[in-house]
Amino acid sequence: MEVKTKSLLDNMIGVGDMVLLEPLSEDSFIENLRKRFDHNEIYTYIGSVVISMNPYKSMLIYSPEKVEEYRNRNFYELSPHIYALADEAYRSLRDQDKDQCILITGESGAGKTEASKLVMSYVAAVCGKGQEVNKVKEQLLQSNPVLEAFGNAKTVRNDNSSRFGKYMDIEFDFKGDPLGGVISNYLLEKSRVVKQPRGERNFHIFYQLLSGASDDTLKKLKLDRDFSKYNYLSLDSAVVNGLDDATSFRTVRNAMQIVGFMEDEVQSVLELVAAVLKLGNIEFKPESRCNGTDESRVKDKNDLKEMCELLGIEQSVLERAFSYRTVEAKLEKVSTTLNVAQAYYARDALAKNLYSRLFSWIVTRINESIKAQAKTRHKVMGVLDIYGFEIFDDNSFEQFIINYCNEKLQQIFIELTLREEQEEYIREDIEWTNIEYFNNAIICDLIENHQNGILAMLDEECLRPGTVTDETFLDKLNTVCAQHQHFESRLSKNSKFLTDHSLPHSCFRIQHYAGKVLYRVEGFVDKNNDLLYRDLSQAMYKANHSLIKHLFPEGNPAKVNLKRPPTAGFQFKASVGTLMRNLQTKNPNYIRCIKPNDKKAPHIFTESLVCHQVRYLGLMENVRVRRAGYAFRQAYEPCLERYKMLCKRTWPHWRGPAREGVEMLMADLQVPAEEFSYGRSKIFIRNPRTLFFLEERRRQCLQDLATLIQKIYRGWKCRTHFLLLKKSQIVVAAWYRRYAQEKKYQKIKRATTVVQSYTRGWQARKLLRELKHQKRCKEAVTTIAAYWHGTQARRELRRLKEEARRKNAVAVIWAYWKGLKVRREYRKFFRANAGKKIYNFTIQRIMQKYFLGLKSTLPSMSPIDKNWPVRPYIFLDGVHTELRRIFHLWRCKKYRSRFTEDKKAVYEEKLEASELFKDKKALYPSSVSQPFKGDYLEISKNPKYQKLNSSVDEKVLLADVVNKINRANGKGATRILLLTKKNVVLADQKTGQVKASVALPDLTSVSVSTQNDGFFALRLKEGSASAVKGDFLLSSEHLIETITKLHHIGSAASDGEQLNVDIADEFLVQFKQDKVCVKFIQGAPKNGNGASCKRKNNRLLEVSVPASA
Ligand SMILES: Nc1ncnc2c1ncn2[C@@H]1O[C@H](COP(=O)(O)OP(=O)(O)O)[C@@H](O)[C@H]1O
Ligand SMILES: [Mg+2]
Repeated sequence: MEVKTKSLLDNMIGVGDMVLLEPLSEDSFIENLRKRFDHNEIYTYIGSVVISMNPYKSMLIYSPEKVEEYRNRNFYELSPHIYALADEAYRSLRDQDKDQCILITGESGAGKTEASKLVMSYVAAVCGKGQEVNKVKEQLLQSNPVLEAFGNAKTVRNDNSSRFGKYMDIEFDFKGDPLGGVISNYLLEKSRVVKQPRGERNFHIFYQLLSGASDDTLKKLKLDRDFSKYNYLSLDSAVVNGLDDATSFRTVRNAMQIVGFMEDEVQSVLELVAAVLKLGNIEFKPESRCNGTDESRVKDKNDLKEMCELLGIEQSVLERAFSYRTVEAKLEKVSTTLNVAQAYYARDALAKNLYSRLFSWIVTRINESIKAQAKTRHKVMGVLDIYGFEIFDDNSFEQFIINYCNEKLQQIFIELTLREEQEEYIREDIEWTNIEYFNNAIICDLIENHQNGILAMLDEECLRPGTVTDETFLDKLNTVCAQHQHFESRLSKNSKFLTDHSLPHSCFRIQHYAGKVLYRVEGFVDKNNDLLYRDLSQAMYKANHSLIKHLFPEGNPAKVNLKRPPTAGFQFKASVGTLMRNLQTKNPNYIRCIKPNDKKAPHIFTESLVCHQVRYLGLMENVRVRRAGYAFRQAYEPCLERYKMLCKRTWPHWRGPAREGVEMLMADLQVPAEEFSYGRSKIFIRNPRTLFFLEERRRQCLQDLATLIQKIYRGWKCRTHFLLLKKSQIVVAAWYRRYAQEKKYQKIKRATTVVQSYTRGWQARKLLRELKHQKRCKEAVTTIAAYWHGTQARRELRRLKEEARRKNAVAVIWAYWKGLKVRREYRKFFRANAGKKIYNFTIQRIMQKYFLGLKSTLPSMSPIDKNWPVRPYIFLDGVHTELRRIFHLWRCKKYRSRFTEDKKAVYEEKLEASELFKDKKALYPSSVSQPFKGDYLEISKNPKYQKLNSSVDEKVLLADVVNKINRANGKGATRILLLTKKNVVLADQKTGQVKASVALPDLTSVSVSTQNDGFFALRLKEGSASAVKGDFLLSSEHLIETITKLHHIGSAASDGEQLNVDIADEFLVQFKQDKVCVKFIQGAPKNGNGASCKRKNNRLLEVSVPASA
């Protein structure tokens, strides 16, 4: 064994490799397994062999990350794992072009099939990728569920026990990409089809079909979902915990599709499965014949009929085949009847054959699909998942065959391991010492020897004419094999008279390499013969069903072969032989599966059970063989690298060749020379003890080294820490000193400043005093100087003034005198001309300036604007006033020229009113702003006055409500007053009835007061028609307007007679015959403006007008 890196040895639970177990004994071996199992380490090595304990629980060690971890790593680099083995095998296949085989052995339920799947999935994960490659991988992986459905069953040991041996060759191209595969199957346990031990089931497919197929499919297959309807399905454990048959059925169908089964092929397969179930339900009854023998007859023909329909067989043919048997010998045909027992035997034989042939066909069909396409040379990796040793209470032909197979595997194991070992020694130039180990070739010989092997004996018995029974076979064995060391039977080896009572009758015992097994001979002959009556195979051949026809080629009457078909034992031996030859050409990799308990439960380690397996798997032998030469080997470089610290001369560096370094090391450690050998590239260590000694020394040395490193590190750390402290202390001291000095300096500085300030203050004060004194002196000087200068200046001023006055006087006198002189001289000229001219010029200039100035300061064009520029010179007074008048007239004209006729009339009326009343009646100013509306009642529009309006012919010029004063008492009554060009009409206000109508010519005058009242009297011509009742005294709100209008009409009339308007505070009116004086007096101011009227006496009517507020 070669330790390449340290992982296997470091952090190890127990020992990862049993070769290193010390001391080596079965107990320590099992203890190591238990220890690792308890720590969830299910894999352990024996050299390159992997022991796998079934954990019975899902482990987190198969993740894609794990795959990556183990990918391209050396076998011993990581802790033991099945992936390490798969990786090693795959890489040596890919890189070294060595065909590989992976041999997985172990008891049923130990995890072989799981292990084979793990290996396949690992290889699938690490090998090439691509569409085509992935398809191949998928097909290879999907072949598993199909085979498991048809070839696996629930047994007491394993819920998914493979009931056939399987060897699968996976083929790779030179790059390591998978191309395809070939599957070989060995010895399907077909007896299970017709009978299952207690607590076990038939093959999964039966249950899957019934649970998972659609109603439609079941109807087509003439099946019923109820398991209990079928004799071949044991009922006690039809449903298995954790197995979902319905889902599995879908998985299987899907897998079949992926693998490449056609739809009609799947259908045919299911029909055959259904046919087997139907076959089981066919029952027989005896029927006596005339010759006294019993002949079998089918009891209820319904199942038979349905089965025949399914397979397209003629019912009568099959029925006959269950009742008769034709024996052909040398052109002679003899037909014998079958009794009931024989009929049942025939039925079961048919069922078994049907199923096992179907299974073989499925394998062939899968092979067709997964077969490598390219014809180039392949590299091959074989995976063998075959039943392990079986030692039951009752062992029969099957166990015999299985155990034989295991013997052969052990044989090949020994051969290959030893050969490899030997080859390495030769390669490394190490002397080969023979190793003592048990070679089981002798047991193989006992079974398979051509002349006197047990299988040969059995065949001989089967083919022998005459009565052949299991007992005759045992007798034969007793005679032929009695001398063999490994064979035992009740009849002792030496003498027929001495019997071995430990053995029951009709049994023999073989001492296999893995233990003694007692076989019961019952059924050996039958099972070896594996006889199917020809009538049945012919009936099958006649079927109108292509698959079933294909499965029974010997039924073809054209190819009648009178030779007996090869026996089961013979066939098995042949196929095992082929397998062994195949395996021998390959590099073997072993996985040994162990089942920790019988309960299929996790965490339970049943020591006796494990011990038993360890024994029959020959694991101890395995370790011993491994250790027979040198237990441990390692290339010089890694060895030196690992242990160089154990010797002062190789530590820390060895410059020379590695081998010399190792030699130096070993010499220095004084390892006895017989404990190791030097190969060409490796050192070989005989005993694990030596390795452990080295490891222990290394561990101690590592500790010492660690201590040393620690010591040096601590020293260094302390030193640096100290230096740092020291450095820091200096820094701190420096800083502190600086700080203290700074403080001191500042104190001194402050004191100095104080002293300084005092001195400076004193000096300053002194200076100040001096300066002040100086200033005062200066001021005094200035004042004195100022006064002095003042006196001087004033004196000078007086002098200058005096001088100026004199000068001025001189000038004036001079001027007067001069003027006098000039006047005297020029008087005559000046008076005549210049004065007038200057005057005119001046006047002209002034006028010019006046007019230009006026132009720019003219007031606005509004006639009522009273502004006028101020007169500049008194002499312009007249002009200025005249200009103002002209301007006013002019702008009035401008204003008037903009009037329309109506407006003009209105203004004319207003003008008339002004002429009549201005400055004569107090009421007038308040009327100026009121427009003269005329028709206050809107008489033409108002429907109320329609009648009144129509009674007046002319256009109404004024319509207003007036107060008519009762002539008798002076009280007022409201009337409507209408004024037309010809009449004044008074009408009742409510009814609109005309009360009085006065023609205008009848009016002589109108009298009003000077005061602020609305009274007026209409004075009528004496003797006129209207004057019967006398004058009217009325009061109106619109007095000014009314009177003006009246006056206007009068002046506009053709006769030109003017209406007089008398304005006086006293006037006379004619009331009927009386002349009454209407007198207006000033009354007290009253609320409201109304004047009150009172008839005082016959002659007087007094109107009291409130004083205007
Ligand atoms: N590596 C494993 N991890 C988890 N469970 C396992 C493992 N190997 C086996 N088993 C369990 O043990 C059962 C039997 O394993 P199987 O491979 O079918 O046994 P064998 O083929 O040896 O009869 C499986 O169905 C599974 O539940
Ligand atoms: Mg299996």
